[in-house]
Amino acid sequence: MSVKKKSPAKKTAPAPRAGKAPAWIGKLRCPACGHGTLTALPRRKGDFGAWGVPGVRCGKCRQAYPVVEGGILQMIPQGDLSRYAYWEQLHSAVDPGATIEAYRRSFGQRQAFVESYYCLPRISRRLGWTYRDSVELGCGWGVYSMSLARAGMVKEVWLLDISLSAMRGTGKVYQAFGIKPFLIQGEIHSLPFKDGAFDVSLSGGLYEHFVGEEQQALVKENCRISKRVLCQVPEGSTAYWIYRRLVTWKFGKWPFGFEVPLTRRRLRELYEAGGAKVLAWDFHNLASAVLFHQARKHAWLQALSWRPGALYLVRHDAVLAAETGR
Ligand SMILES: C[S@@+](CC[C@H](N)C(=O)[O-])C[C@H]1O[C@@H](n2cnc3c(N)ncnc32)[C@H](O)[C@@H]1O
Ligand SMILES: [Zn+2]
Repeated sequence: MSVKKKSPAKKTAPAPRAGKAPAWIGKLRCPACGHGTLTALPRRKGDFGAWGVPGVRCGKCRQAYPVVEGGILQMIPQGDLSRYAYWEQLHSAVDPGATIEAYRRSFGQRQAFVESYYCLPRISRRLGWTYRDSVELGCGWGVYSMSLARAGMVKEVWLLDISLSAMRGTGKVYQAFGIKPFLIQGEIHSLPFKDGAFDVSLSGGLYEHFVGEEQQALVKENCRISKRVLCQVPEGSTAYWIYRRLVTWKFGKWPFGFEVPLTRRRLRELYEAGGAKVLAWDFHNLASAVLFHQARKHAWLQALSWRPGALYLVRHDAVLAAETGR
């Protein structure tokens, strides 16, 4: 993949040569049987995105996983996925052109200012972390990975979501920014990756859509696949509940589906039970969010990149960075 601005990324995805397995295949495992030896399907003419091949096959159960239109490797396990139809519907209504325009305006701003809003590059900078490769789970339109890529903090970007519309749209958005990510339609209960396959895995706005033991199992599965983990989720703060009331009032209902905000305590429990050690916390807040959106119209506001600690009072999301020991 390549990034036009600031990133030290490669220009093109590694193209597999005849007889030689592509490097990326070493990260994959079969989501159906868990086996770690997959082979690339024979090359043929066509656009297969970053993969460069029409699909992969499991060496054990022989299940084939195709690369479909848009360069998306489909690695969803078989079964009833109808509970996720809501997300497909939501993403299919989003216009990639409008998203590209919104990202241009957001990420075209001063980097220090961008990081007063985007917590994942900020917390990474604080810890001195940069990444050879990253995978974003439940990526939607990939904004969190984009914030790391635009900060020049990651070389190789992998994106995974259950929604095919989101993956297709996100491929177009990343292309507009000169980035060629590895796109996977996958399922977070059974990730198609080997243990410790990535430098970092990240998620934003994902685990609040699950509760209880299922949530615990998902975080454990997340911690399995990478050395480091970054996570941003809504925190059940006063500001969150005021914001939720206002949005519900404006739209007549809460438009983001089933969602239960978390506490820092619950988050720590989840990640520790997943085998990780929490190293740093940050928070996303409503005041910086308003400023960030206003600055797209009034450029002088970009000078205000300082974030006083008192903004914790209007925090909306909790953000954590953890190490898994993988
Ligand atoms: C609230 S959206 C957040 C999207 C993105 N991270 C953002 O903040 O813009 C939650 C995302 O998780 C995805 N998702 C939900 N359940 C999933 C599952 N079981 N496996 C993979 N992705 C899932 C949805 O399709 C959706 O894109
Ligand atoms: Zn298999």
